[in-house]
Amino acid sequence: MIDLRSDTVTLPSPAMHAAIAEAELGDDVYGEDPTVNRLEALAAQKVGHEAALLVPSGTMGNLIALLTHGTRGQRVIAGSECHIYHYEAGGASALGGLVYHLVPNLPDGRLDPTALQAALDWYDDPHHAPPGVLCLENTHNRCGGAVLPVDYLAHVHALAHAHDVPLHLDGARIFNAAVALNVDVTALTQHVDTLLFCLSKGLAAPVGSLLAGPQAFIDRARRVRKMLGGGMRQAGIIAAAGIVALNEMVDRLAEDHAHAQLLARELATIPGINLDPVRVQSNIIIFKLTSSRYTPAQFVAALREQGVLLGTMGGPLVRAVTHYGISGDDVQAALAAVRAVLAA
Ligand SMILES: Cc1ncc(COP(=O)(O)O)c(C=O)c1O
Repeated sequence: MIDLRSDTVTLPSPAMHAAIAEAELGDDVYGEDPTVNRLEALAAQKVGHEAALLVPSGTMGNLIALLTHGTRGQRVIAGSECHIYHYEAGGASALGGLVYHLVPNLPDGRLDPTALQAALDWYDDPHHAPPGVLCLENTHNRCGGAVLPVDYLAHVHALAHAHDVPLHLDGARIFNAAVALNVDVTALTQHVDTLLFCLSKGLAAPVGSLLAGPQAFIDRARRVRKMLGGGMRQAGIIAAAGIVALNEMVDRLAEDHAHAQLLARELATIPGINLDPVRVQSNIIIFKLTSSRYTPAQFVAALREQGVLLGTMGGPLVRAVTHYGISGDDVQAALAAVRAVLAA
C-alpha cells in the first residue's frame, strides 16, 4: 500500500529502533528517566525556549497548553479551520470550561485581521468572557499545509501581547514550516509564548510530542499532564526515538516537500481534479474532486483497490500527505493509479 493518508503513519527508522533498544530508563514521573530528560533539554534548545515537556500526543500537548494558560470561563481564540477546534474533541471546553472563539481562517492559514482584532478588543464588562489564550497553527493542516511566515508570527505575537493575551502555537509540523521557509526553527518559535510540536508525524518517531515554553509555564503544565493521565513511567523508550527524530529527521523533510510539489503539479493536470499547485507549500496537498463519476468516498475506495490510500476531508475535498515512508517511485505509482481511476 502507498499510504498518503497522513504523515502519522510513518514507521520508526532503523536508528530509532536501535536507540529504543539501548535507551537508559527510569521513572519519568519522578523525573528520573535520563533519556526523557535529554529529549526535553534537546527539544527546548532546538526551539529556543526555556523548557519542554514530553507528552503522549499532540492533542494532549495542546490541551495541556490551553488548560495551563486559561481558566474556566475564559476564551480560547483560534482559527475557524484549526486542528484544536476540529479534531481535538472539544477538550478545552469539556475538561477546562474554556470557550472557543473562532476567528475565520484565510486560505493561507492566517486569521482574518479584523475579526482577530475584534476578538482581542474585549471590554472588562461582566457580559464578556475574557480572552485566555490565542492560538495559531503552523503548518496549517486544513489549509493544505500552508506555512505562516516569520513576520506574520512576529506581528500576531506583538498584537497578542499588546492585549495581554499569551500566544500558543499548534506547531505539530513546525519543522516542516522551518524547512519550507529555509530558516532555523527558532526564527519562528521565538515569536510565540508556548508551542506544541509532534515527533510522530513527518519526523517519524512512533509516539510523542513536546510542549515548550518558559520554565514556570512548563512546571505548571507538568501538573496538568499528570492530572490528564499523561505522566508516563519508563518513557525513555519513546524519548530515545524522539532524540533521533530531532537530530536526524528534520533536514530530510525537504524531500517530502519536493515529493508533494511533484505530486501536486501532476495531479493538477488530471481532469476531474481541481488543485492549484502553487498553494502547496509543505507536505500536505488538499484538492477538490470535480469528477462527476465519483464521490470523494468512492474515489478513495477505488484508489484503495489500486493500492493507494488517500483521505477525505469533508465535502469534495481529498487529502494526500507525503512523508518518510513515501519514495519518488511511490509518487509516480500513486499518480498512475489516480490517472487510471479517473480515466476508467
Ligand atoms: C495541526 C495538528 N495539530 C495537532 C495534531 C494532534 O496530534 P496527535 O495526533 O498526536 O494527537 C495534529 C494531528 O494530526 C495536527 O495535524
